[in-house]
Amino acid sequence: MLFSVLFGCSSGNNGKMFQKISGIWEKGQGVEMERIKLTGFGENQTTRQQAARGRGEKAPFGSPSFKEANTLTLDVTFMFDSPEGTSIHRKDVEEIRPRALEANRMLEEGKGDICDGGIPMTGWKDLPEKLDKKHLEEIIAAARTLGSEIDAFVSLGIGGSYLGLEATFRALTHTYFNQLSREERGGAPEMYFLGQNMDPDYFRDTLDMLKGKRIAINVISKSGTTTETAIAFRIMQQLLEEHLGKEADRFILVTTDRQKGVLRKLAEKKGYRTFVVPDDIGGRFSVLSDVGLVGLAMANIDIGEFAEGFRNMRLAAMRKEFWENPALVHAGLRYTAWAKGKKIEVVATNAFPLYPVARWMEQLFPESEGHRGQGLWVSPSLYSEKLHANGQMVQQGERNIIETLLFLKEHDNRVRIPQDREDSDGLNFLADRGLDMNYVNAKVVEGPAYAHYLGGVPNMTLEIPRRNAYNIGQLYYMMERSVAISGYLLGHNPFIQPGVESYKTAIFALIGKPGYEDKAKKMEESTVKLERIRIRA
Ligand code: PA5
Repeated sequence: MLFSVLFGCSSGNNGKMFQKISGIWEKGQGVEMERIKLTGFGENQTTRQQAARGRGEKAPFGSPSFKEANTLTLDVTFMFDSPEGTSIHRKDVEEIRPRALEANRMLEEGKGDICDGGIPMTGWKDLPEKLDKKHLEEIIAAARTLGSEIDAFVSLGIGGSYLGLEATFRALTHTYFNQLSREERGGAPEMYFLGQNMDPDYFRDTLDMLKGKRIAINVISKSGTTTETAIAFRIMQQLLEEHLGKEADRFILVTTDRQKGVLRKLAEKKGYRTFVVPDDIGGRFSVLSDVGLVGLAMANIDIGEFAEGFRNMRLAAMRKEFWENPALVHAGLRYTAWAKGKKIEVVATNAFPLYPVARWMEQLFPESEGHRGQGLWVSPSLYSEKLHANGQMVQQGERNIIETLLFLKEHDNRVRIPQDREDSDGLNFLADRGLDMNYVNAKVVEGPAYAHYLGGVPNMTLEIPRRNAYNIGQLYYMMERSVAISGYLLGHNPFIQPGVESYKTAIFALIGKPGYEDKAKKMEESTVKLERIRIRA
């Protein structure tokens, strides 16, 4: 049988509307393809590190030389005096400098508008110092024991009860983690995430991946009532119970408030193993608490190294000299840009595994800053991909954008660019000079940083030496501190999220949850008054 393809409007077809292509795929002409070999690529270093972590090997994260080699640097050169649009000048920042320093002092002293329900929500600030080593060991031991009995671990949660964990996991593991062998994963089970959306197809597809496997679930919810998480939990809990009966209880972990809430009550009744979302830490600031640590330990991430990163950045973020404090400078520049009319912050990275970290920032900043008509909209981006999409807008659209670039300097692997006999793409010069994909990928940040600056997009680059738990921990603490300072500068409490709470209540009313009848009625009355405008094709 002939395999043929018809192309319409192909160029250079001498006016013929269609051209028939045939031949190379004619049945019987080909030989069975040999399986591809990765000759010349060596061992994948991410996989090697996963396997090493599985054997209990640790990075020397306490040593001065490790710390020196893993110093994050914030380069703010291109934030100032851009030739197009409204520029930001050093003097603008100097003007707000005293306020930023005062904000840092108030944060340190636990002063200002920082409470939620009467509780000061700054428990995250000193958590790196307070974190109990014994508790970390307990988490690791629990993860080891449970992990050895299961094939897959499913984390259920949304917002701050989800993103920090997934972002850190993705940042530090192989892109196709679940498709690797258990040995390549360093002995860790497969990792899945549910409850962060209500898409039945995503849910069902994930169930397919879990079919026939031994699984454990960890439901993470501070309130215990968030609809998406609760529905995901109900389904997974029942699946486990139907399958295992009472034995299921051993495979259900609950991470929730220490004392109150429906999940706490249920866990006590059933005897589920519990972990705590601290009272004084909001979801988006909770990745260094049990919320993030349990899942990370399950994936064999070194949570001690992760905590050390937080500790190190805490010291830098406590510095009293503005220009020596990366968190203060980041906050001060973002605030200045916003006050001068910038409305969007593109957070872009050249590292695929750091894109979820940019998404974590998309949650941390807007959920904290979006009050009283204020705040920067954060747009997470992966470069090069997005340079071929909203890159046009960044370069030449409305000049209301700033950019924070998360620049990964050293990737785990090097990918060489080969010589090509034809050189039809004209890229042999790269191979001639021994330049690899890593070299080009660095230019994917350096090039746009300069071009965007010239085009009127002030930008700063956070240089991350390599991806490891220590550096991701540093980055998180810097950003948590930055957004807290931003709250003081904007003049509102960044630790509450009344807007998110109102959507949660609206969902309760819309799905007919008992107790929300009045709210549902009011919503219905107000929408009934609206003239429906619907265009059918
Ligand atoms: O940062 C936050 O507070 C939110 O993003 C919450 O983490 C999110 O809404 C989930 O809430 P809960 O943990 O109560 O289910």
